[in-house]
Parts: sequence; structure tokens; C-alpha cells
Amino acid sequence: MRTLKDLPELSGTRVIVRCDLNVPLDGKTITDDGRVRASVPTLMYLIERGAKVIVISHLGRPEGAPDPQYSLEPVAKRLGELLGKPVGFVEETVGAKASRAVSELGSGEVLVLENLRFNPGETAKDDAGREEFAKDLSELGDVFVSDGFGVVHRKQASVYDLPKLLPSAAGLLIEAELKVLERLTDSPEKPYVVVLGGSKVSDKLGVIDHLLPRVNKILVGGGMVFTFLTALGNKVGSSLLEKDQIETCLGYLAKAKELGVEIVLPTDIVVASKFGADAEVQITSASTMEETPFGDKGLGLDIGPDSAKLFADNIRSAKTVFWNGPMGVFEMDKFANGTREVAKALTEVHGLSVVGGGDSAAAVRQLGFEDNQFGHISTGGGASLEYLEGKTMPGLEVLK
Ligand code: 3PG
Repeated sequence: MRTLKDLPELSGTRVIVRCDLNVPLDGKTITDDGRVRASVPTLMYLIERGAKVIVISHLGRPEGAPDPQYSLEPVAKRLGELLGKPVGFVEETVGAKASRAVSELGSGEVLVLENLRFNPGETAKDDAGREEFAKDLSELGDVFVSDGFGVVHRKQASVYDLPKLLPSAAGLLIEAELKVLERLTDSPEKPYVVVLGGSKVSDKLGVIDHLLPRVNKILVGGGMVFTFLTALGNKVGSSLLEKDQIETCLGYLAKAKELGVEIVLPTDIVVASKFGADAEVQITSASTMEETPFGDKGLGLDIGPDSAKLFADNIRSAKTVFWNGPMGVFEMDKFANGTREVAKALTEVHGLSVVGGGDSAAAVRQLGFEDNQFGHISTGGGASLEYLEGKTMPGLEVLK
């Protein structure tokens, strides 16, 4: 893959950098700036070499038209604070205003363009729609750097089509992410434990299929666990359940047995009277979830304390751990214990511990952990999962 070192002279050159600045926002406040911080090393590299830096990114999923709640303006402001220098912002991605702002950019200066997905061409399904938008973008720069690891699994104009139109290379974030993910796929040190959570089994099918023959244990928590528990004949009240995945779960349990891989499920569950921070809760065995006062209305919203300990013990004794998906509704303190214990155990691993993006990355920061307590926190949720599934990533293929 081409990297920054393969680029021509950068001084005075207009460099378009595709970052993934898709951060969670509460109004105009960024609640987790991890992805903005992760984009700094590449931008500093370019600034120090006198490039004129044009940053492009998506934020959220606006439907091809401007939508103020998804403006990148607050992100540009945060980027300026992190870079320690003024960062320009233009409320257009392509067009006369964007062109003018780019033409006024000096060496070592940085400009953020408005959300790519305000333009229908960015996510167009037809090649021509994407290519046309990529062409408009390409006219703003001389060189392209791809550094939005979180979005390399998307075949979108700025990720897949734009690099074909300009001399292009992967940035430092993509290099760093791949270095770690390669360690997870090329002969990882054993025991190799994978922790999966989040709401849906159906989001994790590919990764379970791919990892089962490669790991020693898969620990399952989060909403997806109730489909596994149902498959084993337990009643799960009103907890999340994907009925159409029950057979799939049975298939995984059988395949795991055949391969000598342990699928570890929680033995106890935090059951709530309703979904809410003021819910009544009761801890119960995973096989007696409907025997609480809430009966079949009870909702499992976290793994129980025994399970949290069981998961933590398994994690601490591993040499390689990959974790994706919270164990419960960590946003509410009552249901955060499982996620907190898993995160804490990951910080104690004597080996490689990787937090796989998205909700899990937000969870560890919200629960007060520091990034440097883990081997690596990926900026890619879907992207890191797809990498581990062994899928071809359009945004990486095009840089080869
Ligand atoms: C992510 O949040 O995983 C990336 O920014 C990609 O966003 P998307 O799922 O909306 O394409």
C-alpha cells in the first residue's frame, strides 16, 4: 500500500485528506473526540511539510442534502484546538465558496470542508453519480491522503473513487490501524479471546463465522446474548431477541464444540422492570429470567456480576483479546457494570488488547478509562469488524 513517504513534494501542494470525523454529538457538543484526536498525526505531518491541507469527512447519515445537525463546523473547531492553530471551515463541500477558500489557503494551513454526505454523489449507488462528485472533489487538490480508517469498508466517492483521480496514499492512522489488526489475523498469540456484545447477532455473523476456527474462546454479552440463551431453551422475558437467528446461534454452538472453541455465555443477568435509568432491577440466573417480579415483561439490560467476573477472568488470562460491543446499556449507570468490568480486565491483559471502535470505544472513554490503558482502540467499528471477517475493503484496495 502506498504511504505518505511515497507522495511527491508536499510543500505548497494542495493535499486533500479524507478523515473519519464522524463523532457522537450532543447538539453542538462532541461527546467523544477520539476520532478527531486520531486524525492529528497525519495532519501534523502534512502541516510540518508545508502542505495546504484540505480535510474532508462525513458526519452521521444525512440523506444527500444539507442538514444542520450534521454540520462539521463544531468538529473543525475541535480540530483547531487539538492542532493548536486556526482551522478554516467552509459551509460547502464543492462549489464556488469551497474553491475560493482552497485558493486562499497558505502553506501549512488547514481548511475543513462541510460534510461530504450533504452531497448525493458521495453515497450514490451508481458509479457515474459517485465518479462525478469525486471529480469535483479532485479539482480542489493535487494529492489525496486516505486516513479515515472507520470508513474504508464503504464504496463511497471520497473513499473509493477520489483516490483513483489523484496521486494517493494511506495516512498514518490507516497504517497504525492495519498494523494492529494484522497482528489479530496473522498468527495471534494464544489464548486468543474475543468478546462480543451489542444488540444484534445479525451484525456479528460474519465475524463469528470467520473467527470461530481461529480463537480459543468467544465471550458473548450485550443484547445479542438473549438469542443465544433462547437457543439453549431459556426464557428471556421481553429482552432483545432475534427469532430468525436462533438456528444460527445453535449452529455456532455446535460448530464451536466441534472445533474445541468455548462460547462463554453469562450465567446471571441484570433484569429491569423497564428500559430506563429509574427502572427497578433484579439480578437473576440466566435460566430464571422470567421468575423475577417483572415476569415476562422483564428486560435483560446487563450481564450480572458473576458473569462479569467470569468474563474478566477469561480476558485477563488471554494473550490476545479483541472486544467489540458493550455488555449492557452502559449509558445508564445501573447497567454499566458488565461493560466496566470487561474494559477493566482488558487494561490488565499481558499481551495485545484491542477495543474495536464504535460503541465500545465510546463506552471505555465514558466509563473513565484512558486510551493508553489499552493496546489499541480502533477508530473503526464496522471497518474493524469487516477487516477481521477477512472482507475486501474498497478504500484499502484502491490504495494498492
Ligand atoms: C462509523 O461510524 O462506523 C463510520 O464513520 C462509518 O459510518 P457509516 O456506518 O455511517 O458509513
